[in-house]
Amino acid sequence: MATSASAGIPACDPATFRHVVGHLASGVTLVTTRTAAGSFGMTASSVTSLSLSPPMMLACLNTTSTTCAAVVEAGAYAVNVLGQGQGHLAQQFATPSADKFTGVRVVEGALGLPVLADALARIECEVVEQVQAATHTVFLGRVLHAEAAPGSPLTYFRGGFGRFEFTRDDEVYQRARRQVLDRAYAPDAVLSLDDLAYTLDVDKPAAFYALTRLTADGLVRRDPDRGYVVVPFDTRTSDATFDARCAIELGVVDMVIGRVPADELAALRARFEAMAALLVGDRFVDFDGYLDANYAFHETLVALARSAPLTTAFAQLHIRSVMTRSFGATPVTSQRFIEAQRGITEGLERGDGAAARAAVHRYTELAKQRVRQILEQTGGRL
Ligand SMILES: Cc1cc2nc3c(=O)[nH]c(=O)nc-3n(C[C@H](O)[C@H](O)[C@H](O)COP(=O)(O)O)c2cc1C
Repeated sequence: MATSASAGIPACDPATFRHVVGHLASGVTLVTTRTAAGSFGMTASSVTSLSLSPPMMLACLNTTSTTCAAVVEAGAYAVNVLGQGQGHLAQQFATPSADKFTGVRVVEGALGLPVLADALARIECEVVEQVQAATHTVFLGRVLHAEAAPGSPLTYFRGGFGRFEFTRDDEVYQRARRQVLDRAYAPDAVLSLDDLAYTLDVDKPAAFYALTRLTADGLVRRDPDRGYVVVPFDTRTSDATFDARCAIELGVVDMVIGRVPADELAALRARFEAMAALLVGDRFVDFDGYLDANYAFHETLVALARSAPLTTAFAQLHIRSVMTRSFGATPVTSQRFIEAQRGITEGLERGDGAAARAAVHRYTELAKQRVRQILEQTGGRL
């Protein structure tokens, strides 16, 4: 209903609303029910708790959906909250099909409704009221039975499925990462789940999350016999990483030289300037900031080739962890890194492939030498 406040303001158009409301992250559920004709179910994210006392849930179902008609007829519905690994079920139940329940483990719930055996949570409701609103029917349900299992939820944000992450877990991961980088664990040492949980004074799921992230960072690896092991860092690791980056960047220079659009050169220049501002004289102003800016510069450089395999190969180098474990050990560095990267930028800007290639080689050699110096200063292994 238009109020004086809304008078004269046109309604938000559906496309804009769809895009904007996609920013409201939600869980994902399957709303299921049963009638004499059989079992019905559909994926629904417009489901929410309504009141605690009495316990009530509401679900907004498109009135044209088969499941909506079945809920009207049954007078009851179950909300099955999907877990992190159940995105395929969300797809399956959002696609019209004669038997959506094929291959799904279903049991009979407390109200005799079909419920998912492996749901993260199940809430069974009796419909006490239904409201017709635009294209949807809003079902207000009295909760008669509710149960939950351990696990993490599937989430939905901007049209895609994802996973939920506790802020607390990220903080635990950051602490664990700092410990590995500060060499609190010997190279090649086994990092057990129990020990990590004990050392960080956190529960096992939080420690497991940290181990998983450390593995993705390349700081820890999963050994089939020994479990999680701290990846030793030595010049073989850094040489191999910097040589691989060099090979990728030389390839990119060859692929794009003389053909980079002006806006992409401008973007590369902007990345370079942002990075250069964080290395003043022979010191990092802010190492983490420099690391991010340096990564962004090289990522932008590789992206000039518009090659998904090259971009993926670059991402898999774990260059951040190599740099953190070496350059991150001391704020002292050299302005020559900036000069070499300026050489790459300007070589590309001028369409001078030989100059850009020479600068890539110079930058690689500087990086390899600097890691050797740092390793010498810190006793050989980081
Ligand atoms: C992530 C996701 C969330 C959805 N949420 C809803 C919802 O809350 N309400 C709705 O009516 N449809 C929703 N849908 C669409 C229905 O699942 C889809 O229209 C389904 O095919 C209806 O099935 P049925 O006609 O067999 O009952 C959603 C789909 C997806 C993928």
